[in-house]
Parts: sequence; C-alpha cells; structure tokens
Amino acid sequence: MRRILVTGSSGQIGSELVLALREKYDNDNVIASDIRPPQFKIQKRSGPFIVMDVLDKDSIPKIFDEYEIDTIFHLAAILSAKGENIPQTAWEVNIHGLFNILEFGRKHDIERIIWPSSIAAFGPTSPRENTPNDTILQPNTIYGISKVSGELLVSYYFKKYGLDARSMRLPGIISSEVLPGGGTTDYAVEMFYEAIKKKFYTCFLKGDTVLPMMYMPDCIRCMIDLLEAEPSKLKRHVYNVTAMSFSPGELAVEIKKHIPDFKIEYKPDFRQEIADSWPKTIDDSLAREEWGWNPSYDIVSMTKDMVFKLRKKL
Ligand code: SER
Repeated sequence: MRRILVTGSSGQIGSELVLALREKYDNDNVIASDIRPPQFKIQKRSGPFIVMDVLDKDSIPKIFDEYEIDTIFHLAAILSAKGENIPQTAWEVNIHGLFNILEFGRKHDIERIIWPSSIAAFGPTSPRENTPNDTILQPNTIYGISKVSGELLVSYYFKKYGLDARSMRLPGIISSEVLPGGGTTDYAVEMFYEAIKKKFYTCFLKGDTVLPMMYMPDCIRCMIDLLEAEPSKLKRHVYNVTAMSFSPGELAVEIKKHIPDFKIEYKPDFRQEIADSWPKTIDDSLAREEWGWNPSYDIVSMTKDMVFKLRKKL
C-alpha cells in the first residue's frame, strides 16, 4: 500500500484527486497538504490534512517523519494567467517548489513522484495541430517556462539520482467541484457555472479559440494510471495527454442543447495571447502506446455530466 503526499490539495485537481486516492489506497494513507484549507468539505472529513508551504523546505521532512510517505503528487503551482501578473512569485512557487520536492524525494528515497506539466510548455513556434510529444518548446509565459524547466529537472533527477518522477502535459481541466484559479482554460468551467446561474457568459477568449481539454474523471485516471505504470514500459518522463479539443463557440453550442436560452458574448483580454501561443490539438499516441492512456469523455458526454452535476449543486 502506498503512503501518498499530495501538495496543492485544495486546488481544482487536488480536491478531487485526494478523494479518489483515498478510495484506492485508504483514507489514512493519503495526506493532503496546501497553504489554503480544503475547499471541498468531504476532503477535510475523510483523512489527514496539513498546512504546508512547498517553499518552506524545512517543513517537508517533518511530514516525512510523521507519515512515512513513499509517493508524492506535487500539484502546488501558479497557473498561466495569474503567473503573468506575478511572474517572480510564479517562478518561485513553480520552480523552487518543485526543486524542494525533488530534493526531498532524492534524500528520502521517495519511490515515485507525479508532477503535472502542461500544454503551456509549448509556445508560438511549436506545431499547433496534432502537436507531437517531442517538439520545439519555446513558451513565452512564465508558467510555460517553469513547466519546460520542470520537465528538464525531472529528467535530470532521474538520470543523476535514479528518482522516478513522471509527468503528463495536462490540457485545460473541466470539473464541477472546485473552481480552477488563474488559468487560461478556466473559461470553460466558468461558462458552465454562468450558463446555469445566469444563462449568460462573457468569455475572455475569442469564440474560435480551439484548445485541448479533459474532464476531471479522465484527469484523475490519467494521473493514477501514470503513477502505477510499470517502469519497464515507460521510455520517457513526460507525456502529452489529451481528451478533446474545442473552442468557446463550440462549447456554447453544446451547452445550449441543455440550456436553450443560454447566451454568450466575447470580450478577449490578455489571456487571448496566451491561448494563441498554445496547441489546438495534441498527439498523445506515446501515452496511449506506453501506458494505455485512453480517455472516456468527449465534449458531448462531458457537457451532459457537467450540466447534470452543476444543476444539482447550484
Ligand atoms: N489550465 C492551465 C492554464 O490555463 C494550463 O495548464 O493555465
């Protein structure tokens, strides 16, 4: 049985991942940690939570002494749009945070670390359609730069110290429990909330901006499957993964099938430039070949489930 630490456990992904991990590995074997309290009440009740700042490198070993962890999901990060407002802090959290976790992993013989990279690792010079796993990585956001640096760091720690750290380049993640914060793909989640609450949404991207996306149940499966993949099957440390690609306009059409009087307007802001530097579609064939990645949700099934869950919740 694994003993797992999740950093950034109060965020959009962490909130739901912790519950899924507790179901699989037992409540007490999954230690949630964040600088913010859990936002998802059932996470708080279901197992241990500790306040931890990934920049405070002295607090990480204390957790090790108390909980004897052997596996880490390192999710604490500042996302793309927020990062452009506070680039120095984004670098600090995303790079020094990861460095502290890798150093901790090296010193304490942590068996495996999962750290998500992002489609933001690509940039304006990468191919935008069917973007391959191995291609030009010249992002122009601080978030993207931190992701490329992190990918290199993860591979370095494996080569130098044999630390088994694995990464997937996540696309925009759509979910119904905890809102994302500070990302460029956040519009997709916001659109669902506003469609249900007000039947109206002002989108900060242009209607035809296509980006790769994934629904939370697939995201969780993706992370657990990569964690449990046999080391002998993996030929690299970083994998492209995707489930669907759509534009705000296409998502609005899909939502209208459930909420016919939903209306949308477009007022692109600085996030448009970030979105325009990212791929529209991703080639994730290596993840499919090497560890069996295979998402279940497309735009139709995801939209149906999101509307159903949010109607119940709101
Ligand atoms: N969802 C992230 C963002 O928009 C991409 O990794 O910043």
